[in-house]
Amino acid sequence: MGSALAAATVAAGHPTTVWNRTPGRADALVGAGAREAASVRDAVTASPLVVAVLLDHASVHQTLDPVADALGGRTLVNLVTTTPEESRELAAWAGSHGATYLDGGIMAVPGMIGGPGAEVLYSGSRAAFDGARPVLDTWGESTWFGEDPGLAPLYDLALLAGMYAMFAGFFHGVAMVGTAGVSASDFARRAAPWLVAMTSELAGYADVIDRRDYAGPGQQSLDFSDLTHLVRASEEAGLSADVVAAVQALIDRQVDAGHGADGFARVVESIRDPARTTARIHDRSVTAGGAR
Ligand SMILES: NC(=O)c1ccc[n+]([C@@H]2O[C@H](COP(=O)([O-])OP(=O)(O)OC[C@H]3O[C@@H](n4cnc5c(N)ncnc54)[C@H](OP(=O)(O)O)[C@@H]3O)[C@@H](O)[C@H]2O)c1
Repeated sequence: MGSALAAATVAAGHPTTVWNRTPGRADALVGAGAREAASVRDAVTASPLVVAVLLDHASVHQTLDPVADALGGRTLVNLVTTTPEESRELAAWAGSHGATYLDGGIMAVPGMIGGPGAEVLYSGSRAAFDGARPVLDTWGESTWFGEDPGLAPLYDLALLAGMYAMFAGFFHGVAMVGTAGVSASDFARRAAPWLVAMTSELAGYADVIDRRDYAGPGQQSLDFSDLTHLVRASEEAGLSADVVAAVQALIDRQVDAGHGADGFARVVESIRDPARTTARIHDRSVTAGGAR
């Protein structure tokens, strides 16, 4: 990802200095016009704008702690995926060394950087965002969410939650039809338009959740949304039911609390209140399946 971002800034004509822990990985960038720094300190002191694209929160500290004194007066843009709390910690740490901090969540894979569809979500110093815009905009659409540095990773991880849960659901479906000899590729051709069509439901669910109107008309009830048959079908086929059982557990908690007639969107309340847990899904599948 760091190479893709640096390549975009070089291509846009911005003087760019690059550094990587393992030497020799910047040859293509150097060939394109970047300067390779001999050390982290050399890299940090080369520009007023320092962009961290490492692995995780720990790697940012491992790399920058020894040269923190050189950050004063500079802007640090952290594009490493971190939790909101980790971003807030990095912002406070950078501030304590006189640096201005901007956090970024990259909503793209490396091949998309600088092209259509790439977006980077930012939060932290507005002044840093405005000042760095000429560079930031070489990577994709730049959107600033607020002064709280934790906001960009919050949006980033919330969007990834939807993505990974959807992919896991798809993989579960692949395993199910696979027991009938259907290839994953065949299933994907059917699943893709189905999932795209289902995204039209998101706005309606969002409206219900924003108004907390789970008993309003026209909603699919939690009782109706019972996934026990889905869990049972998976177990009967000798598959792990983990993916669908997780959803059923969230449904069960609302039904157990007496909300079975309410709409499916009420599942969000199970997520908002993780205190109460249930082992019901397991008990139920044992009873219903009768196999264990
Ligand atoms: N790839 C994506 O599609 C994507 C999308 C959105 C966000 N991101 C985020 O972008 C960041 C980089 O991802 P990536 O895909 O480029 O990962 P990657 O290919 O695994 O590269 C990791 C980079 O971090 C360096 N690194 C790892 N640990 C380090 C340490 N302790 N100290 C110094 N450098 C260290 C590696 O250096 P070496 O070459 O020496 O190993 C390498 O340059 C991650 O936070 C990731 O979550 C990636």
